[in-house]
Amino acid sequence: MAWTSKDISVRVIDKHEAVIRDVLAARFPSIRFVDSAEAASGLKVLMSFRPPEDEPLNGYDWVHAVGAGVDHLCAAIGDPERAPVITRTTGRMGEQIGEFCLGYALAYLQRMATRRALQENEDWNKEAAAPRYAFDAQVAVFGTGSIGAGISGAFRALGAEVTGYSRSGSPRQGFDHVLPVAKFGLAKSPDVLVLALPATAETEGLVDGEVLDQLNDALLINVGRGSTLDHDALQRALSKGQVSHAVLDVFEAEPLQAGDWRWSHPAVTVTPHVSGLTLPDDAANRFCELLEAYLDTGEPPVSVDIQRGY
Ligand code: GLV
Repeated sequence: MAWTSKDISVRVIDKHEAVIRDVLAARFPSIRFVDSAEAASGLKVLMSFRPPEDEPLNGYDWVHAVGAGVDHLCAAIGDPERAPVITRTTGRMGEQIGEFCLGYALAYLQRMATRRALQENEDWNKEAAAPRYAFDAQVAVFGTGSIGAGISGAFRALGAEVTGYSRSGSPRQGFDHVLPVAKFGLAKSPDVLVLALPATAETEGLVDGEVLDQLNDALLINVGRGSTLDHDALQRALSKGQVSHAVLDVFEAEPLQAGDWRWSHPAVTVTPHVSGLTLPDDAANRFCELLEAYLDTGEPPVSVDIQRGY
């Protein structure tokens, strides 16, 4: 019965709960806000990035992720037969993460850290300080979804040539080329490799020693999930100069543990998972769009594939 109901109850779990509630209440004044599935009636909705600590997910009909990655939610689904519909928010995350990656890539190509160090030594070394350019750069992006496309857009705006890599290699808008991941390494090493992969059974450890062996003096940026990159292999690739610098925004366990080698490695930049912080109005607006479509058509939104994990 739930998916024929026009009576909607929503539990919101988020730091920006008040903003999200305000957007929802303005668009759908009859929505009832609740603090558990038990207190809900009609169509029971949860908006959250992580599963609640105090109740199971399968009490809800629909879980809208306040974020792009649904790995935490999918992992918490017990019986897939009784799984809620899961939808997610990408909003402006492609552009946000694109700016993050481009910012670090420009700092790297423009040798900003080197120039600062030269200044500290009063060293007028033009050769060491000379820039490289984004318009000359070859960029590879693993992951060709909306986030990969946003990253590609940021680099292409400055004239870089961007190749996207996906499981199938099917053409996608927003890239100069798209190839299957298995073909990575047939061309010369990219200057910048960006990882924007979801955490799934298939992507676990996908970027391993064999992939990193294809690199030569590259900047590696991981903005997807930590589990997709083999960090021991990264340590070896850094020592061999295959990776000249790594910017890591995501880790296999977060926060990154005190004392981990990545905190102090001179060629690693650690950032605390901030490349794509979901904007609360993006999460609320996306949910409103999906709810409006359901109320118009009576069709539940298309769920992410829980087995696949995205
Ligand atoms: C952040 O990592 C997200 O998945 O939204």
